[in-house]
Amino acid sequence: MSSIKRTLSAFALSASLLPAAVQAGEVEVLHWWTAGGEARAAAALKDMMEAQGHTWKDFAVAGGGGEAAMTVLKTRAVSGNPPAAAQIKGLDIREWAKLGFLTNLDDVAEANHWDQLIPPVIADVMKYEGHYVAVPINVHRVNWIWANPDVLKQAGVELPRTLDEFYAAADKLKAAGYIPLAHGGQPWQDATVFEAVALAVMGPEDYARAFVEHDMAVINSPLMETVFAEFAKVMSYVDPNAAGRDWNSATAMVIRGEAAMQIMGDWAKGEFTAAGLTPGKDYICAPAPGTDGEFTFNVDSFAMFRLNDEDNSQAQKDLARTILEPEFQTVFNQAKGSIPVRTDMDMSGFDACAQASMETFKRSAQDGGLVPSFAHGLATTSYVQGQIFDVVTNFVNSDNKDPARATDQLAAAIQAAL
Ligand code: GAL
Repeated sequence: MSSIKRTLSAFALSASLLPAAVQAGEVEVLHWWTAGGEARAAAALKDMMEAQGHTWKDFAVAGGGGEAAMTVLKTRAVSGNPPAAAQIKGLDIREWAKLGFLTNLDDVAEANHWDQLIPPVIADVMKYEGHYVAVPINVHRVNWIWANPDVLKQAGVELPRTLDEFYAAADKLKAAGYIPLAHGGQPWQDATVFEAVALAVMGPEDYARAFVEHDMAVINSPLMETVFAEFAKVMSYVDPNAAGRDWNSATAMVIRGEAAMQIMGDWAKGEFTAAGLTPGKDYICAPAPGTDGEFTFNVDSFAMFRLNDEDNSQAQKDLARTILEPEFQTVFNQAKGSIPVRTDMDMSGFDACAQASMETFKRSAQDGGLVPSFAHGLATTSYVQGQIFDVVTNFVNSDNKDPARATDQLAAAIQAAL
């Protein structure tokens, strides 16, 4: 055999034995998962991609809630150089697809039976004109309260179940020298607490009429004034140094016992988990006051951009496939604090908070208690969301909080963005 032939047949042999190595590509992934628990979760995906021979190019843009990440993504996309995958959520997925940036994932979805694995309400969000352009990663519940049980005990209070119980407990905690509510003064965090109070005051039906359907009769109503009034009361238990504080620093205040409670989505649980703490013993998770049985959902997802390089396209498809595999769904969500987006998963290895979350998720989907989070982009477009953030944050920062005026401003702002 000539040396050329020998080389060719050796190449053919190695190619047939090692298809992954031949098709190895690079996958650049934009996300904002830089806090302790988030970073552990993201590392799980990186490891699984590298185990398949691909190269992971991390495109992390710090900033809770992802506003900074979305700004950077727009710049990259406009200059014709988007990443392979980006954390884009909710209705924004369609906006990006409409502009022609996203790729069709139907072949991966069909081969791996996504339509059978994912709840239809979530699958719909991942599709544009009936075609998959994004892959869902998890389900976060947003309406949680996290608490330090030692601090509650020191102040002689129980975990509050209603807003009135919250005020009574918070007064006692304050008197005992603790910060009742850990919070970071950033628009998305303000909106996260506002959303929990809105659900408690309005209930899921009126919440959806206001924040999903944008029904002006509910937005511009005495009920909304009550939401702002209760929200002002809740926020009065935040310490004066909250401005600009990151959400995970607020969680750390609860962990250290400086503050008693935090109202935050279950990515906060990722911080408790990363600190080696056990729910029920070292910290408590419970529905945000007044929202028992209700579930504000926030689904993380990667939208996939059009790529020219064939190897990188293959890596992108492998990324999409891997995300919905049971192994990834378990490891990632245990670190992230969320629950799997697949409803057929064995939850026995998950902690008590996640098990409760999955149970409430399934039950609330049947009884009407399941509503999308507007603070996290699942209920409305980023335009409307931005308008709500402005009104809510101005209200928080105002020395003279006027619920009636804030309600008028909210109505005008939402109307302007529709
Ligand atoms: C949410 C996102 C979560 C978590 C959180 C804090 O919007 O869905 O995955 O990262 O922000 O950054």
